[in-house]
Amino acid sequence: MCGIVGVAAKRDIASLLLEGLQRLEYRGYDSAGIALRLAGGELRRLRRAGFVSRLIEDFERDPMAGEVGIAHTRWATHGAPTERNAHPLFSGREVAVAHNGIVENYEQLRDQLAASGVSFSSDTDTECIAHLVALELRAGKDLAAATRDALSQLVGTYSVVVLAAAEPGAFVAANRGAPMVVGLGESENYAASDISALLHATRRYRFLRNGDIALVRADRVEISGPAGEAVDRPLVESEFGPESVERGAYRHYMQKEIFEQAGAVRNTLRPLIVEGLPDHFLFGAELAGRFGDIAAVHIAACGSAYNAGLVARQWLQEHAGMPCTVEIASEYRYHPPPCPENCLYLAISQSGETADTLAATRLALERGYLGVAALSNVATSSLVRMVEHSLLTRAGLEVGVASTKALLTQLVALAMMTLALARQQGKPDQDVRALTQQVAALPDLIEQLLEMDARMEQLAGHFENRGHALFLGRGPMWPVAMEGALKLKELSYIHAEAYAAGELKHGPLALVDDSMMVVALAPDDGLLPKLRTNLEEVRARGGQLFVVSAPRADLGREDGMIVVRLPAPSTNLQAPVLYTVPLQLLAYHAAVRKGNNVDRPRNLAKSVTVD
Ligand code: F6R
Repeated sequence: MCGIVGVAAKRDIASLLLEGLQRLEYRGYDSAGIALRLAGGELRRLRRAGFVSRLIEDFERDPMAGEVGIAHTRWATHGAPTERNAHPLFSGREVAVAHNGIVENYEQLRDQLAASGVSFSSDTDTECIAHLVALELRAGKDLAAATRDALSQLVGTYSVVVLAAAEPGAFVAANRGAPMVVGLGESENYAASDISALLHATRRYRFLRNGDIALVRADRVEISGPAGEAVDRPLVESEFGPESVERGAYRHYMQKEIFEQAGAVRNTLRPLIVEGLPDHFLFGAELAGRFGDIAAVHIAACGSAYNAGLVARQWLQEHAGMPCTVEIASEYRYHPPPCPENCLYLAISQSGETADTLAATRLALERGYLGVAALSNVATSSLVRMVEHSLLTRAGLEVGVASTKALLTQLVALAMMTLALARQQGKPDQDVRALTQQVAALPDLIEQLLEMDARMEQLAGHFENRGHALFLGRGPMWPVAMEGALKLKELSYIHAEAYAAGELKHGPLALVDDSMMVVALAPDDGLLPKLRTNLEEVRARGGQLFVVSAPRADLGREDGMIVVRLPAPSTNLQAPVLYTVPLQLLAYHAAVRKGNNVDRPRNLAKSVTVD
């Protein structure tokens, strides 16, 4: 989704801004732009539809220089992804604005502004902000006050940077409900919607809270709260440096991230296992004191994180006897399930910036849960800062839009949460210890699985020319099938759906003919005989079967079937993690074979910061 970067320095900052834009590319976007305040005070901009590389090429052909400026990658919401609608948006030559989020009352504001003689040069909601700030500046206010008063007229969630011809050496950064961080450098300071835009410049940050306005200059940053009062926001040192987002020898970030999974899972598990048992303090001391009271769990999440939640539901029911409801966050926020007594709410979000998950969690904080917790990969994210308790995965920065290592680390963290709750519910220590060992064995097992890469590359050829695929699984493998289908469709653009295998004959079987690829997940569990029946149902209709199975699973007749056997047997706590890996490889290679942009699939964004 959209990305913002702003810089104030005592040197030309164009290259810093452009590098910031390149670092934001992973989020997904369709146009980009940069605006500088030139030495004489004039605001000048360059905007392009399409890739940042195009913007940079054209910039280099006709460069400009300035010591303060803002830049943006846009993911279109209001107005087509054209140069005319790309940010920064201007009000005359007085004000430039780059904006993430949505101005919900923009039609009303546009009408008001048009009635007072303002003419618009884009189809965006953002342009209203530029005109509102310009009007406030003309009323004699300074940039911070003008921005505050302009933003007070907006309905919606946003983050924004504002540059004015009348304010030398400074820009303003502000937010409400969307992330904005100020970066601190040596004689220069920055702001961005995401720290990855600033990793090349600094590791020192202050995160703005809702309603904050930061006036950013080369030598100082002044932050004021919603009423204009000076506020101090904590200084945070990030563990990530520029090397965290290098692709190295890998062809794509996604490939690198798939191969980093064993390490990511190992790092995530390390602090969660204490003397062979799940850490009682995994969500921190405060929740540990009430852990024994937890009687139910509500999970809200989107996309792959939702699939992880569905696996956790099965584990919580089976191992901890704990009722668990899993909701898509965009549904939860409008149709929340009743909140039972002693229920823990858990938001799962890799980025911690997904707008729907944030909105669901904001609602949960008002609903009388025993605790409101987050499972996230980003310690400094809006989600983690919003909740009472958090559990962090340690996947490192994930750049590829499709979640891979983040998902696997979520699964193992959820496995450990399940076991910690199971122990509280009275499961004997020796049983919990044995189950913990199964989880602890996962990094080595994942490493073995990655050796299947060449085979999956070859087998992905069977998918290349297909239009449709069905994924089937039972129990905790059903959400794994959902994840496999999600990965295949988002990367290879092959239409894929997942079903609980028993549902096949209740509808989807009608689709099966010799053009249909049917991927079945077959761990050697008690449900294998049932799954065998499903395989026969597909075979009888000529469907092409692709079965990912346990090493010695008895699949019945195997002729005409593509069978991928995992190298080792797996338990119910291991299988969802392990079976996900070949499905990731399959989707990755199918997409590469089709020549798709695997790191930035069309129309998608890494952090979905609009709802
Ligand atoms: C799919 C994918 C998305 C995300 C979803 C939630 O590969 O990456 O479905 O899982 O957008 O994102 P987070 O976890 O950042 O809230």
